[in-house]
Amino acid sequence: MITKSKLSVLTLALGGALACGSFVASLAADKPVPPKNAEAANPEAAKAEAAKAEPAKAAEPAKTAHAAPVHKVSPELVDAYIKATFGKAPPEWQERIVPDETMKDCNAYRGDVPVGVADTIIERELKRVTFPADGKFLGNWKEGAKIANNGRGGQFSDDEKTVNGGNCYACHQMEKAEVSFGTLGPSLTHFGKDRKYADAEIKQAYIKIYNSQAVIACSNMPRFGTNKFLTEQQIKDVLAFLFDPESPVNK
Ligand code: HEC
Repeated sequence: MITKSKLSVLTLALGGALACGSFVASLAADKPVPPKNAEAANPEAAKAEAAKAEPAKAAEPAKTAHAAPVHKVSPELVDAYIKATFGKAPPEWQERIVPDETMKDCNAYRGDVPVGVADTIIERELKRVTFPADGKFLGNWKEGAKIANNGRGGQFSDDEKTVNGGNCYACHQMEKAEVSFGTLGPSLTHFGKDRKYADAEIKQAYIKIYNSQAVIACSNMPRFGTNKFLTEQQIKDVLAFLFDPESPVNK
């Protein structure tokens, strides 16, 4: 469901850098710059020019961002629009835009669900967490580091054999040395160390990664296990990345 990837975050960053670069380039190229005070020199002529160029805009009353009306778009219209944008996608992709009970609740309240509904969501989502049959929560932190860094999977450009990544860095800082990370989620540096590597904390983090909404209703974090985006082993590996004392997250 989440299509934001680290790659696209990078692309955005690069896009910004390029846009900035071309601005600098145009300055450096010594292009003639229209004098800023042209209007001051001949205000009447400047106004007449502006009115000619944008008659429609000139006629419109001034609007401020705050005064903008709140548009209530019907959910049917939104559904139809989303469906249309997925129109040519393969059938298994179409399923991804059908909201489950929890997403329906979150959509209806735009994520800001009342306490009672939040409790219902958490109760429902907790039932959708499967704990490891072997009772072991921690896998291999080195594998976990790769998974946390991998933004592939679930994208049009992926081939069928693509192994999904967790894309954790798109939203979280994890190891300190990483320079590229998103900030939608809290920083997870020293995650295990700060929690004294306690078993109860490991279990809680497993639940969070397996099904974020079993902890916080309408979380922006994907439900990696419940939605079968990551395998149980991948979740264990990522958990080790957070909780192994040898992991760079805890250095
Ligand atoms: C789309 C953004 C997003 C992605 C991707 C994401 N998270 Fe999160 N995560 C969040 C947000 C936001 C929170 C804050 C709590 C909440 O709203 O659910 C969070 C909270 C957490 C927490 C709890 C932090 C605490 O202080 O208790 C952990 C652990 C966590 N994420 C781990 C991960 C791991 C591991 C991955 C990758 C497998 C991941 N997250 C991917 C957004 C994301």
